[in-house]
Amino acid sequence: MTSTTRDTAYVEDRAPGRGRLAPRAALHSDAPSLALDGPWRFRLAAGLHDLSAGFEAPGFDDHTWDELPVPSCWQLNGFGAPAYTNVTYPFPVDPPHVPDENPTGEYRRAFTLPGPWPAASAVLRFEGVDSCFAVWLNGQRLGDGKGSRLPTEFDATGALRPGRNLLAVRVHQWSAGSYLEDQDMWWLSGIFRPVRLLARPAQRIDDVFVHADYDHTTGRGTLRVQTTGAAARLHVPALGLHDADPAGPHAFPAVVPWTAEQPHLYDGELVTAGERVRIRVGFRTVTVEDGRLQVNGRPLLLRGVNRHEWDPETGRTLSYATMRHDVLLMKRHNINAVRTSHYPPDSAFLDLCDELGLWVVDECDLETHGFEPVGWHANPSDDPRWQEAYLDRMSRTVERDKNHPSVIMWSLGNESGTGRNLAAMAAWTRRRDPSRLLHYEGDQDSGYVDVYSRMYADHAETELIGRGEEPATTDPALDAHRRALPFILCEYAHAMGNGPGGLAEYQRLFERYPRLQGGFVWEWIDHGIARRTADGRTRHAYGGDFGEPVHDGNFVADGLLFPDRTPSPGLIEYKKVIEPVTIDLDPAGESILIRNGHDFRDTGHLGFDWRAEDEGEPLAQGPLAVPVLRPGEHTLLPWPALPPAKDGERAFTVTARLARDEPWAGAGHDIAWGQAVSPPAPPPVRRRAPLSRQGADVLVGPGRFDAATGGLRAVGGLPLDRPVLDLWRAPTDNDRLGGREADGWQALGLHRLTTRLTGLDASGDALTVTTRVAPAGTDAAMHTTYRWRTDGSTLWLDLTVVPEGDWPGALPRIGLRTALPGWIDTVDWYGRGPGEAYRDTAAAARLGRHRHTVDALQTPYVRPQENGNRHQVRWARLTGAGGGLLVTGDPWYDLTARRWTAAELAAARHTTDLVPGDRVHLHLDAAHHGIGTASCGPGPLPEHELRARRTTLRLGFAPLDRPQA
Ligand code: GAL
Repeated sequence: MTSTTRDTAYVEDRAPGRGRLAPRAALHSDAPSLALDGPWRFRLAAGLHDLSAGFEAPGFDDHTWDELPVPSCWQLNGFGAPAYTNVTYPFPVDPPHVPDENPTGEYRRAFTLPGPWPAASAVLRFEGVDSCFAVWLNGQRLGDGKGSRLPTEFDATGALRPGRNLLAVRVHQWSAGSYLEDQDMWWLSGIFRPVRLLARPAQRIDDVFVHADYDHTTGRGTLRVQTTGAAARLHVPALGLHDADPAGPHAFPAVVPWTAEQPHLYDGELVTAGERVRIRVGFRTVTVEDGRLQVNGRPLLLRGVNRHEWDPETGRTLSYATMRHDVLLMKRHNINAVRTSHYPPDSAFLDLCDELGLWVVDECDLETHGFEPVGWHANPSDDPRWQEAYLDRMSRTVERDKNHPSVIMWSLGNESGTGRNLAAMAAWTRRRDPSRLLHYEGDQDSGYVDVYSRMYADHAETELIGRGEEPATTDPALDAHRRALPFILCEYAHAMGNGPGGLAEYQRLFERYPRLQGGFVWEWIDHGIARRTADGRTRHAYGGDFGEPVHDGNFVADGLLFPDRTPSPGLIEYKKVIEPVTIDLDPAGESILIRNGHDFRDTGHLGFDWRAEDEGEPLAQGPLAVPVLRPGEHTLLPWPALPPAKDGERAFTVTARLARDEPWAGAGHDIAWGQAVSPPAPPPVRRRAPLSRQGADVLVGPGRFDAATGGLRAVGGLPLDRPVLDLWRAPTDNDRLGGREADGWQALGLHRLTTRLTGLDASGDALTVTTRVAPAGTDAAMHTTYRWRTDGSTLWLDLTVVPEGDWPGALPRIGLRTALPGWIDTVDWYGRGPGEAYRDTAAAARLGRHRHTVDALQTPYVRPQENGNRHQVRWARLTGAGGGLLVTGDPWYDLTARRWTAAELAAARHTTDLVPGDRVHLHLDAAHHGIGTASCGPGPLPEHELRARRTTLRLGFAPLDRPQA
């Protein structure tokens, strides 16, 4: 028996492991297996000095130990604590050494074999253990391994006993392998993916490599299946293959190819006397031709996301239901591609991508970003002593996932600098699997990859690359190679907090330049950890919430889904921007241009309908007959005949929906829409009613003003806080990080404006109030003129804001702030909606009538920040039990309504810090600064910047007696 305490050298050994079996494909076999998931005995040791001697012995007494479920991350089960860093290693950069404080989980699991082991041999398979582990069965050491998100198999045959068996596993949080696993995510440890004992029959199939090529010029499919182990026979009934030699090659004159849009799979089986292995064959061919990434002879446009595996309760342990939910959500939001950032996912996820249709960039479990802060000194990527570990990781990735038709590219890893070990990985992969392309963003020279890939290039640089005019790389030969490559943004549009802005503009570039083949938004889901407050509310923890000495705050919450998988406004926007059918309506009411932007699929699966609304009121609707369009085709149709518009605005909307159920969404699910809005009717000429006085008040129609200050106090019976100019918003993550615009606002004092009354005139039909609004310490100011008039029933405001002096940088907003009584609880509006929208995140907001409660207007970003804006509101009714207020825009304004102030919003660290007060705080804005994506990437495009300039806003206020139905 080995002593557990002495043999720990493997922890700091660069080698990937000992005693392991050769990597092979994830196979669906009918050979018996025993799932070893469930409760295990567990003890968390503080480090290697604290190990339990002899813990691997079957007779070891573990009755005082705790229990831990397998699979799980121990930090999410009450042992140790999660820690989040982006780039920085949470331990000294001292490769391959790790600190003595190395939390080590000791796991023990007894299991009983029901009868004699049903096979010649037995394999113990771990799908994922973070970060390094050693395994004993019945006291016999089977081996050790590293590579957290990769499978490891050990031969258990000699150690397995009839009846009761004892499996002991020691898992170290830190190891030499940790240097290769510096992905931007929580540091979590343990046996976090399933463990199984596999029966391996004498007549077994060890490995399978399915090669299924498609020739788009002839429609021909060619199938070759390489197997190792016992000689197997191949059956693919739908191809007429029965009891065939897998090696073939088998040619089929006409197969249905596999694409992400139509993921056709042929089910087959490999059979020996000892086992049957299921295979799913998807015929497709991936190439780069004429500088374009093509599948089956057609160029792709990748509408992708970067996906980390995340669940707010269980961390990186995901249920099948959660994985499936992710794929369904992606498909329902028009996403067609996923980069498995930055490690191979649970292989069941790839089965789902094959089945439901997503293009996959499968990334190896590799990142050494933490060497960047030390100038890449000693980066393992260029140190031959690490080469075995690099090749091991790549081969385990490729071998496990090689049979997935969805995988079209292998990615060597992420942010690992450059070096010969990466080149070696690429060379090995090219030899082993020439049928797929190679990706690695970190090598900008792109010498050993097949696509030119970048992250966070701004629009201008992306356009330059689209034109093929990017600056040359160092070596002319490499430059020539790179210029011939297709381009993708493997990460762009950082979805942290409110945003990302600028998606539509990226998409226009992708559509315009053939070399630009799309990209992958960063990222799919916020990695917030669910925590409960004392009163039972859930909040999502981020970096620093567990007392980590080094952390990167809420940078871990940068997804298109909230941690609980509710789509954020960013996902709704992305769905609209990437819709695979574009519908452009000419606002003059003449033509409808419909273009099929699918790469492979015609529009036969879609139905179209139209709807006309006048001022948001339904006018007419009906189906729209659209000829079936092949990919890339378009058609121009006339608008249906409509009655002439009454006074007011007409919106005409055409929607494309699924005509029939698809495996990922039901009939009727909307795919794409277009809307045209006729120009609004000119505002009616308003009669003017005179002002009057009542005690210390001036009355302007329903408006009651303080005669001394000119401040509005009430509209009808509704008291309100004096509306004042506001220039500040609770900084978004994009405002705070990157360009750090929010620091400038803070320095300038936009959050602490003061007012000086400079003029007050109540005469004739207008109350005119002028103020000078400015923060302390500067001579810059905003001269603000409020001109209040009435037509008798509505109080009309003409607001004019004129800047004086130097207002450097962008302003977050220009508008009015007021507050209403807290019993206001509902907002009905006519404007863009139903969701949140800002000027550069407004593609998905359509004109119509919408209704929300005040509470539902809030977007619960993990770290509170400006949110919930409703864009281009024509009018809004804010109502509650006591009546309400109608605010009309001329023509429109932006609206937020919330139960806390912007200052409270900015001060909150978690959603549960926001406590409703007794007022509903309203912002009625003339304009907002764009959102951009500066938390990682470019800020708002110039056309979406808000600068200090003369600004006007015209609003009408009228009391509402009781809530509108
Ligand atoms: C990239 C990196 C990602 C993530 C992102 C910012 O540089 O590849 O892992 O850190 O930035 O959220």
